Amino acid sequence: MNEAAWPTLRDSTRADHALVESLPRMRRLFADDFRVDEFRDLLTRMLALHAPLEAVLAVDPGAAVGYLPRVPLLQAGLAALGADPALARPAAVPELGNAASRWGALYVIEGSILGGQLIHRHICRLFPDLPPAAAAFYLPYGDAAGPQWQRVRSALDAALASPAQLDRAVTAARATFAAFVAVLSA
Ligand code: HEM
Repeated sequence: MNEAAWPTLRDSTRADHALVESLPRMRRLFADDFRVDEFRDLLTRMLALHAPLEAVLAVDPGAAVGYLPRVPLLQAGLAALGADPALARPAAVPELGNAASRWGALYVIEGSILGGQLIHRHICRLFPDLPPAAAAFYLPYGDAAGPQWQRVRSALDAALASPAQLDRAVTAARATFAAFVAVLSA
């Protein structure tokens, strides 16, 4: 086991996370005048990213950590907002041809649920009349987000046992962040 896998992933992607958070679309999310049509657009972009990522990750390695697929939640959220999920064309995502790189990408989408909890709370406060399905994407594990993140961190430490594997995971995590930046900036 490589006790340092998760901290290395976190430290190596800190700047990528800061960049994503600073994008105008992400900043708008927390504005008091954020609109439902902006939220619809954001979920469409998230579906465009999650569909191709999840097609690769949901089972291997997702099943090893009880990963809950987000595509159905995004589709239901868009339907609740009166949008057509088919409008989300799959985005370009990194090639994840080996197990270590798939763990790196899974780190990014599982980690995003940490900030997702804040986003969920904010959206529910901003739009109290929306059906719960609208924002459910941001809270896939409900109250179990903490234990789920703990499980993912331990699995990362166990799966990325060698420096070479960790290296591949970091590269893939950074490339995954870059795919989010591209879609959220377009
Ligand atoms: C406005 C949008 C976002 C906000 C406000 C936000 C906020 C946060 C917060 C508060 C944490 C928890 C930090 C901690 O508990 O130590 C976090 C963690 C994380 N977020 Fe975000 N986030 C946002 C968007 C995203 C997106 C789009 C992604 C994926 C591309 C992402 C990936 C991650 C990851 C991987 C972690 C785990 C970091 C770690 O290893 O500790 N976040 N985020």
